[in-house]
Amino acid sequence: MKILVTGGAGFIGSNFIHYMMEKHPDYRIICLDKLTYAGNLRNLESALNRENFRFIKGDICDRELVYKVFEEERPDIVVNFAAESHVDRSIEDPEIFLKTNIIGTQVLMDACRKYGIKRFHQVSTDEVYGDLPLDRPDLKFTEKSPLKPSSPYSASKASADLLVMAYHRTYELPVTISRCSNNYGPYQFPEKLIPLMIINAIHDRPLPVYGDGRNVRDWIHVKDHCEAIDLIIHEGKEGEIYNIGGENERSNIEVVKMILKELGKPESLIKFVKDRPGHDRRYALDITKMKEEFGWSPKISFEEGLRSTIKWYLENRNWWEEIINGEYMKYYEKMY
Ligand code: NAD
Ligand code: DAU
Repeated sequence: MKILVTGGAGFIGSNFIHYMMEKHPDYRIICLDKLTYAGNLRNLESALNRENFRFIKGDICDRELVYKVFEEERPDIVVNFAAESHVDRSIEDPEIFLKTNIIGTQVLMDACRKYGIKRFHQVSTDEVYGDLPLDRPDLKFTEKSPLKPSSPYSASKASADLLVMAYHRTYELPVTISRCSNNYGPYQFPEKLIPLMIINAIHDRPLPVYGDGRNVRDWIHVKDHCEAIDLIIHEGKEGEIYNIGGENERSNIEVVKMILKELGKPESLIKFVKDRPGHDRRYALDITKMKEEFGWSPKISFEEGLRSTIKWYLENRNWWEEIINGEYMKYYEKMY
């Protein structure tokens, strides 16, 4: 089996490549990644010298290059992680989000049509459904919930989902979509809540909490996400959408306090800052379909997963020090 993983040098894509290489050592994995600010070849260090792995630096919007990759490799399955993924950046400058997340997906699917594949899997997000109110804990999004994205990022992901379903209906492209909640774990870029707070706490820097800190996210360990995608690409039904959630809703302030406690740092480091424009209040996913179809449910508890993630950041300082000393620092200084 040959799998083309786009965006495999980023957070979830690199975890997915490691997961797949261990689970299916006989598979050939090809990673196509533009190496934007969020892509890092160090995330793939242990894969790079493996015979059944190939890294290609390139843009999924580059039709000529994408067709060349398909011509040379003839993948059976394509898993599209490549995206601009950070909501705050999409609010600052939406254009690249539309290009990569929508046009890039189209180019990949055109290549799939031209060369033929067994499955095109689109890695999507719970953010396409918009948000839920805090005072209705009984409400959760199912795969049938309407799309109501709030940010340019989530609107671009929702657009791509629509395009994927249109390619299925019109061209009978064998597609699946998964919509996952907030991931955490090793190799997450330190602009996202959990690594940002861990690193700031380690440095005794203020921890910037948006608004009142009561916004709720459903956290899932990245390894549980990878396991679910592996099941869907092999056993999922064509044309189907699957919610992948952690069944682990936490307010931001609760998460931040857990991190401070684990690191033995004072809560006085918390600093409430200006809210994110259009900030989604709460995400929650109904994952009955994943449970019933595959017997899948998330295995890693948040307490255990957060502890091991904090340990990973403590033990891999040179990984994130390189990042925060570079281009990222300019972004950070602009934001906070
Ligand atoms: P990330 O920002 O860490 O990584 C994105 C990767 O895509 C990077 O390696 C980057 O270099 C690459 N990339 C960006 N533009 C590209 C292009 N034009 N061509 C080729 N490569 C390109 O993102 P992530 O957090 O790992 O998210 C991966 C996917 O999962 C995204 O599609 C995202 O929407 C989705 N998702 C993320 C989460 C989450 O909590 N992080 C949750 C649900 C879904
Ligand atoms: O739900 C899935 C989505 O989760 C993915 O599709 C996105 O790619 C991913 O970035 C993530 O989006 P969020 O906006 O939920 O993640 P982020 O880490 O940016 O923020 C999590 C919450 O923490 C959110 O309510 C905003 C808040 N926050 C974030 C940052 C960076 C803060 O309070 N302070 C911060 O400094």
